This record gives sequence, C-alpha cells and structure tokens, in this order.
Amino acid sequence: MLILGIETSCDETAAAVVSDGRVIVSEELATQSGVHGKYGGVVPELASRGHVETIDRVVSRALEKAGVDSGAVNAVAVTAGPGLAGALLVGISFAKAFAYALGRPLMGINHLEGHIVAPILSGHELRYPAIALIVSGGHTHLYYVEAFGRYRLIGRTIDDAAGEAFDKAASCLGLGYPGGPAIDHLGAQGDSTRFVFPRPMMRVSPHGVHGRFDMSFSGLKTAFVKAVRESGPGNGAHADLAAGFQQAVVDVLIEKTVAAAGFYKVREVILGGGVAANSRLRVVMTERAVLEGFRVVLPTPRHCTDNAAMIAVAAFHRSSADLSSSLDLNAEPSWSL
Ligand code: KG4
Ligand code: ZN
Repeated sequence: MLILGIETSCDETAAAVVSDGRVIVSEELATQSGVHGKYGGVVPELASRGHVETIDRVVSRALEKAGVDSGAVNAVAVTAGPGLAGALLVGISFAKAFAYALGRPLMGINHLEGHIVAPILSGHELRYPAIALIVSGGHTHLYYVEAFGRYRLIGRTIDDAAGEAFDKAASCLGLGYPGGPAIDHLGAQGDSTRFVFPRPMMRVSPHGVHGRFDMSFSGLKTAFVKAVRESGPGNGAHADLAAGFQQAVVDVLIEKTVAAAGFYKVREVILGGGVAANSRLRVVMTERAVLEGFRVVLPTPRHCTDNAAMIAVAAFHRSSADLSSSLDLNAEPSWSL
C-alpha cells in the first residue's frame, strides 16, 4: 500500500511516499523560512504563493525519488487542517486534481493527528492509552489518546504556543526565524541557572480537573524581553539567557505532561510538533520517563517539524477505517482533533 502524502498547512511544502503506513520510500521538502525570516514570522499570503510555486516540483521529485510511476500510488493524503486557509487550499487543490487524474481515493488528514503518529516513522509501535503533547509554532496541546482516532483535549496554552515563545525569544536576541533551533543551539552553551524565569501555571492544582493541565507562556516571554533589555547588548549573556528561557519552557511542558500521565494512569507519552525537536526537552523528558515509569516515544527531530510522511502515516491508519474524503474536501483552518 503506497500513500502519497502532501502537506502545506504552514510554511513548508512537503510531499512523501510512504509504504504500509510506516516505511518512508521518499520524501521531499521545500522550506520557506528564507521568505518569512525578514518578517519574523509566517506571512500567510506569501506562504500560499510559495506553495503554488513549488508544489508541482516537490511532488514530482518525491515520486521520482521513490522510483515509482504515479499509477503505483494507492491513495493521496493531504493535510486539510488546522493551518493557514490559503496555504491548506493549495495542497488540497493539488491533491484533488492528482487523485482525480489517477482515479485514486483522496483523504483529508488532520495535521495534529499526523504529529501524533510521526514516531511510527522511526519504527515505534504506539501503545494506547497514551498522553500526547503536541508542541509547535501554533499548538501547545495535551491530549488523552484512548486509541488511534480517539482524542480528548485535556490541556492547552491559554495564550502563546511554546514554539511561538521560542520564536519571539529568538527574535529578541536577533537570532532570526524560526527561532527554536537557534535558542536550542545557543542555550546548549549557556548556564540555565544564571537567569531564572517564571514558570507560569506550572503547579498542577489538586482541585478540580478544569484547566488543570493548561499552560501559559506569555508572561515568560515578557520576563525574557525585560531580562534581555536589562542585561544590555553584547555582554556575553545571550547564551545564559537562552538556556534559562529554554529551561523554563521545558519545565512547564514536562510538569504538565508528567502530571497528566499520572492522573490518567497511562504508561505511554508521545511527543510531537516542532518544539519536540528541542534537545533539552528530549533529554529531560527521557530522564523523567525513567523515574516515573512511563515510556516516551519521540519522532526523529526532522519528523517533529512539519512533514508529509506523517500525513501519509495517519492516512494509512484511517484507511483501515475506510474514511476517505470526496472531491468536495475543503480546508478546515481551525479543525480540532
Ligand atoms: O510543527 P512545526 O514545524 O510547525 C507548526 O505546525 O507550527 O513547528 C514549528 C515550531 C517553530 O516555532 C520552531 O521555532 C519550533 O517549532 N522549533 C523548535 C525547535 N525546532 C523547531 N523549538 C525549540 N527547539 C527546537 N529545536
Ligand atoms: Zn505542525
């Protein structure tokens, strides 16, 4: 079973051919970070235009690399949401035309479900029930996953997404966009105890379930901007600032995830989304998992960030439930799991 996956929800134009829902036959990705870099974030109109300009080449290259004729593709899967409406529509329109021309089923896939199943690409078998932490530029969501396709949102950021906080912190240090990888790199050389930043809402209230696993990152961002200003330019504090900031984000994400795993008595924790590529988060989460007695499953760093292979994996699991979309598939910019 060969599935062609297509992903254009944000600023990466991606296509992949995946066999039997787990083996990557080929993948191709065109990033637009150069286009959006000078604006400090993704500009929706430019993202749509970028996808229009590259999608044909990206899909052709993925098929070429796979060494298969397009006729060998059994189904076409495309991200239908959540994401930027215009950007999503480029991938959807392309996928529709492709599926129609080939006479193959078209499947609209939820991007977040893609992030949840991404560890399968590194050979992991997902065991349910699980807690999934999806942390990216647009999402900081904790899910209780009862089984594939059955998700309950149990916590989320009440303001900024963790990736957004990384991007803003990086931009404040003049590190460019996307900022997460830059803070990760710089923070590794710094002392995380020199600047201690607030960890908003980190303690899990023992009273009531409502809001118990929610998070907040905007206060941290404000504290960071203030600390950068006070430390002055070029005094060698940047690595320590980055390390302190990163540690604060990591602490919040880990406390909430560990608390959720304990509350729901699950032994499986799945991480996904761009911020799951963060080296410090990966190390500390893995250490905590050993202490707390759960297993943490991590995608490879390059499959934490947006990619099309994860969309094909989700489609494969959906296909067994026979849930194919029709050609009137539309973009769902705010599609929740
Ligand atoms: O999942 P993703 O590629 O796109 C969205 O769906 O948003 O995530 C992108 C986000 C950006 O905010 C980026 O700065 C962050 O993930 N990110 C990281 C790292 N790599 C990417 N954040 C922290 N550490 C990293 N190594
Ligand atoms: Zn994403």
